[in-house]
Amino acid sequence: MLFNRRRFIQAAAGAIALPAPAFAAAPAVRELQMGVFKQRVRASGAPTEVWGFNGSVPGPVLRYARGDKVDLHVVNKLPQPTTVHWHGLRVPNAMDGVPQVTQAPIERGATFDYRFTADDAGTYWYHPHQSSFEQVPRGLYGAFIVDEQKPLPVDRDVVWMLADYKLDERNAQVEDYGRVQDFGTRGRHGNVFTLNGTAAGPGRTLQLRPRERVRLRLINGASARIFRLEFAGHSPWIVAHDGQAVAPHPIPDGLLFLSPGQRTDLILDGTASANKAGYAITDRRSVDTLIARIVYAGAPVRAKALGRPEALESNRHTEPNLNTATEHFLNFEGGEGGMPAIGQVDGKALKVEDIRKEHGLTWTMNYSAQHEHALMHEPLFYMRKGEHVQLHMINNTLFEHPMHLHGHFFRVLAINGKPNPLREWRDTVLLGPQGSVDIAFVAENPGEWMLHCHVLDHAAGGMMGTVAIFD
Ligand code: C2O
Ligand code: CU
Repeated sequence: MLFNRRRFIQAAAGAIALPAPAFAAAPAVRELQMGVFKQRVRASGAPTEVWGFNGSVPGPVLRYARGDKVDLHVVNKLPQPTTVHWHGLRVPNAMDGVPQVTQAPIERGATFDYRFTADDAGTYWYHPHQSSFEQVPRGLYGAFIVDEQKPLPVDRDVVWMLADYKLDERNAQVEDYGRVQDFGTRGRHGNVFTLNGTAAGPGRTLQLRPRERVRLRLINGASARIFRLEFAGHSPWIVAHDGQAVAPHPIPDGLLFLSPGQRTDLILDGTASANKAGYAITDRRSVDTLIARIVYAGAPVRAKALGRPEALESNRHTEPNLNTATEHFLNFEGGEGGMPAIGQVDGKALKVEDIRKEHGLTWTMNYSAQHEHALMHEPLFYMRKGEHVQLHMINNTLFEHPMHLHGHFFRVLAINGKPNPLREWRDTVLLGPQGSVDIAFVAENPGEWMLHCHVLDHAAGGMMGTVAIFD
């Protein structure tokens, strides 16, 4: 199976500014080579050594039609063992890419074939699940798009993967992965925001023609950074969260929260008037950071602006019955300033002080901490196939945790005890500091599935576990 590296680079680069016909057939990628190479991140200075898929960060946009067979040959040319996880996709358990749980790690020089059907339309992504706190921020991530049978009519479909790198003055990645102080606080943050693998900021533009309609697929591939995006001069419609259709609505309060692992699909219409400066897309999370500017060029696409878009075609979801659902509770403790009592690591009871000292683990879920190198994971709870489940997650820590469940989508019922009016389906939901989130789902996919924080340093620091579904 030969692949053409240049084509992959074009596919990734083309996503930002180049006008491409809507629904252009993507090159059929058959092989993913995970390797080390150099790529320009900052506009000036030396290129950066990165780890990535097929010689580019992000990796190639993997694009399928709903119902397509996916068959990907993964080759590990990294200096470490690895795996690939298909974030959000409801794949058979054996294809989920979780080391020690669903497969043995892919050793250096070894290969693994991932085969499954792309049953769910929407915006997803792929990344390693082995040492993800290091492998993902080094550059191993890519978009995975499944087109609806009847896609929403748009002029252009654009994929933006947002992430960050921690670079020194020579543009080299700072190799400080796995620090206990990052594990126990808000995670390792980069100092260079990236948009599709290269530095975000003043140089980056999204060109729109007047009244053009773009579907902008936003994916947060950062290992710890939460974005809060503002679109100056525009009011995009949210049409999907985590790939799942929602009734089209404007961004609440004009600020789009996107936590690690999450995706949001926007319909962005070119409704502003052309101006020199363009319109900023800014991260307002902590220090305001310019991501890119919307600039206008070319002739109007149509005489009148389009109004509210139609809803996307939705995926198959079974409505959980809350009257009969089994209830489970998950209590989160630990981290800096937290007051954990006792805990266990892989079934062995330990004082949290000792957990910290012996394992560098600083978080517990129901008083248990697990890490990916553990050979034996005792599931947090068990379900039988078809069981309706309500899960109450209670955060007794001072930090935010984007919690991700593998193999399923869940309805977000309530946030901090208040009913969530949107009740959207998600695979990753943000749990606020000392807050709570209630979710519900039907345990439809048998197997042992990860439930973990997508701040990858938190996951490495103990905030990962599994839930098991018996067939
Ligand atoms: Cu995106 Cu368990 O991961
Ligand atoms: Cu967390």
